[in-house]
Amino acid sequence: MPIFQLTGLSGAGKTTLATQVVELLRAKGMAAEMIDGDVYRKTICKDLGFTKEDRLENIRRLGTVAGALSKEGKIVLIAAISPFQEARWELERNYQARTVFLHCSLEVLRQRDTKGLYRKAALPEGHPDKVQLLTGVSDVYEAPINPHLMIDTGKEPLTLSVAKLLDFIIGEVP
Ligand code: ADX
Repeated sequence: MPIFQLTGLSGAGKTTLATQVVELLRAKGMAAEMIDGDVYRKTICKDLGFTKEDRLENIRRLGTVAGALSKEGKIVLIAAISPFQEARWELERNYQARTVFLHCSLEVLRQRDTKGLYRKAALPEGHPDKVQLLTGVSDVYEAPINPHLMIDTGKEPLTLSVAKLLDFIIGEVP
């Protein structure tokens, strides 16, 4: 069954969308699983930080888990920032993953700031709470080239984004 990698900045809605869509798929009797970057960073990826190498390795590991679940017949949704094109291409190549770009402007993300990360990234250098290497602010995010689907989560209501993603996934299931 297919793998969908949801990529986008922190707060763009990857976890929220994936959670809701997995529930809706299950309600339709389809086996679906979410692989959430935040969750795996506490377990099999807890040795990894936010350098380029670590982020690439993080996505590689998530891909390995996704590949195994997919082989078992599960529809898999990966929710991770995945800022590098090469990491996303790797999953497209190795697992035929479909890339879904959740676009949201930094202006909206800063307003929402659900985890307080954008505020913490803006703290002065040397402040004990300062967050370094925040994707989109002080670290790179390579916008996907030709994603299979793009959703503008900054501009449209959540219900519409959920419907678009669900429709797309159902259309990809054999
Ligand atoms: S990825 O870049 O390797 O794909 P992943 O999605 O697994 O990242 O983890 C991102 C999560 O780590 C964010 O949702 C956030 O909660 C946390 N985080 C902590 N510091 C950073 C940072 N500097 N940049 C991005 N995310 C961070």
